[in-house]
Amino acid sequence: MDFRGSHILSVDQFDRDDIERIFTVADKMEPYAQRKKVTRVLDGAILGNMFFEASTRTRVSFGCAFNLLGGAVRETTGFEHSALAKGESLYDTARVLSGYSDVICMRHPQSGSVAEFASASRVPVINGGDGINEHPSQALLDLYTIRKEVVAKGRGIDGLRIAMIGDLKYGRTVHSLCKLLTLFKGVHVTLVSPAELEMPYGLVEQMRERDFSVTVTDKLEESIRHVDIAYSTRIQEERFGSKAEADLYRGKFRLNQSIYTENCEPNTVIMHPLPRDSRADANELDSDLNENPNLAIFRQADNGVLVRMALFSLILDVVDQVDKHARDVNWYRHGR
Ligand code: CP
Repeated sequence: MDFRGSHILSVDQFDRDDIERIFTVADKMEPYAQRKKVTRVLDGAILGNMFFEASTRTRVSFGCAFNLLGGAVRETTGFEHSALAKGESLYDTARVLSGYSDVICMRHPQSGSVAEFASASRVPVINGGDGINEHPSQALLDLYTIRKEVVAKGRGIDGLRIAMIGDLKYGRTVHSLCKLLTLFKGVHVTLVSPAELEMPYGLVEQMRERDFSVTVTDKLEESIRHVDIAYSTRIQEERFGSKAEADLYRGKFRLNQSIYTENCEPNTVIMHPLPRDSRADANELDSDLNENPNLAIFRQADNGVLVRMALFSLILDVVDQVDKHARDVNWYRHGR
């Protein structure tokens, strides 16, 4: 695809060459993300960071990525702090905000809302998560992490064995990741969830059409015995009608160190898009895994900055200028 000026709304936009291009640029961003160098390539540019639903990682890492490229960030968080609460339409909001920004990231609780917003925007829009639909930049950083982690262990994405665990019905990160994986060959996917929270049928069919081996189950322990990646997810309480309904499923699939030791291969990488629900009745990924070297969740979150820097550089067409606007850093860098 031609990234220049493009919206990023769904992983359906990408082919395998696009993924390679994004990952190659993300690799180039490492010295900047690690604060070994500074670039001002986007000096003067403005990111509109519009988050109408709770977020820590996506909102802050998009903002950091833009700042690390030298640009400035203007933010709105929550409906109550925007004129949407006064009945303004997405169309009007998009027309106005795109006059203030060079690129916009948006999260919204309704599926399709970011695409609707983008159709009225005068600048490129990146989908930071639209309801249960998609979270394309998360899928990119997940795949980037999978690539880094499995390549370090001598494997590739073709032929990957992955278990996705938890709320597969409402979890937009796994929806986007499944679609993205269909660009690869011979992938073995095990989908572990309660029957009521299974992966949408259309996505399972899409994977089977690509000759994936897809197993649907509600048994955690046998599902993680022969996988490269165990990808855990949270019960998406905010998508249920009530807390009581979410409580029916919370805490059903808990991965902890003893279950890992008993069942997983020694190299199995543990991922989670985060946030993990650390409350006692949920705890889908126990903190006793924190010292496990195969727990990749914080490396995964760090990779979000690299991938988001790559997206901005490609969309705003500055990839070849990043290093020309670079200098070394001159401040104390703790632990680096
Ligand atoms: N993974 C993710 O989307 O996290 P946030 O909800 O904190 O942005």
